[in-house]
Amino acid sequence: MPSEEVERRLREAYEKDFHFEDGHVLGSMCSKPEELAVKYHALFSEANLGNRGLYPGTAMLEDELISDISELVHLRNGWGQFVGGGTEANITAMWIARNLSGKKKILAPESAHFSMKKAADLLGMELVDVPLDDGYRMDADALESRIEEDVAAVMGVAGSTELGTVDPIDEISGIAGDIFLHVDAAFGGMVLPFLEELGIWRGNWDFRVEGVDSMSLDLHKMGMATVPSGILLLRNREYVGPISVESPYLTTERNIGLAGTRPSGAVAGAYAAIKSMGREGYRDIVRRCMDNTRYLVEKMWAVGFEPVIEPVTNVVAFRTDDAERIRAEMDRKGWKISVIRRPRAIRIVVMPYVTKEVIEQFTEVLSDALKSL
Ligand SMILES: Cc1ncc(COP(=O)(O)O)c(C=O)c1O
Repeated sequence: MPSEEVERRLREAYEKDFHFEDGHVLGSMCSKPEELAVKYHALFSEANLGNRGLYPGTAMLEDELISDISELVHLRNGWGQFVGGGTEANITAMWIARNLSGKKKILAPESAHFSMKKAADLLGMELVDVPLDDGYRMDADALESRIEEDVAAVMGVAGSTELGTVDPIDEISGIAGDIFLHVDAAFGGMVLPFLEELGIWRGNWDFRVEGVDSMSLDLHKMGMATVPSGILLLRNREYVGPISVESPYLTTERNIGLAGTRPSGAVAGAYAAIKSMGREGYRDIVRRCMDNTRYLVEKMWAVGFEPVIEPVTNVVAFRTDDAERIRAEMDRKGWKISVIRRPRAIRIVVMPYVTKEVIEQFTEVLSDALKSL
């Protein structure tokens, strides 16, 4: 095919996609990446950290980033690596827990991301739901009543997918005792530290809690990095033992983790984003997202929608029995929102591209849509 034709097809496909800058995507947790991140992701597109010895430069970037992010979530002398995203990090953490304990039960809040179902299925483990309290956080008493000898792992969420809630990780840790404890901070990992710095929210949710053994944290969500920029952090380097295999044909003796070839252009992209934005840059973004979240709640009250909970992070859901029909109608009007089922609600993630102007347009279109419904 002549390159003009290839390019034409690629452009045509690109035009079909929704783009964050158009301001009509209100249900995604992904960033519009920083320009510098996009540029350096492309430059490092042939790198493969699955074969680290060939890419000492990229490996250096990864190490430095892991060290920066570890510091952000108070992990000292731990271990971490880039993975494909929250799903891979969650699966890998459960893989470690199963192999360290030789047990198969996972206790997870009902609000856990669906990747936990994949983890349990793939690993031949049993996923046991722990009910939520009135604030949609894992109910500590319910957890306590489910702790038994055969539990391999307990997991909690710091920034849940549907409502942005944070489970009481310190309390969970006290109940879990020596059981492996995983924290899914895929979304919250780049929000909560800055909410704390801004004095908006405070909680004990990261490696400051001694019982926390592992964490998922995505930079392609609130980290303004390119996809796929997931991170898995482990409290203890020795935890990689059960997830590493001999890799004789590669430049390292052992290959660690689920993936062979690993996302590596994304490491350079994430490095560009993290280093150029710095703590101050992320703090500003989080401050803006929270301002806009409050603005959205105000505007939605005016249209007749009540938030399910007072938002903790920039994820907010509004109660309605008509969520599916509203979503479909907004879709017809070119707006992408999402829905949740328990409770029935429409859900909006107030990412940095969801500005006040976008919120004003959105609530106007929504009012219109409600009339036609
Ligand atoms: C809390 C949480 N964990 C895990 C994931 C899965 O992340 P990914 O889609 O990057 O695999 C998500 C995705 O939205 C999430 O919100």
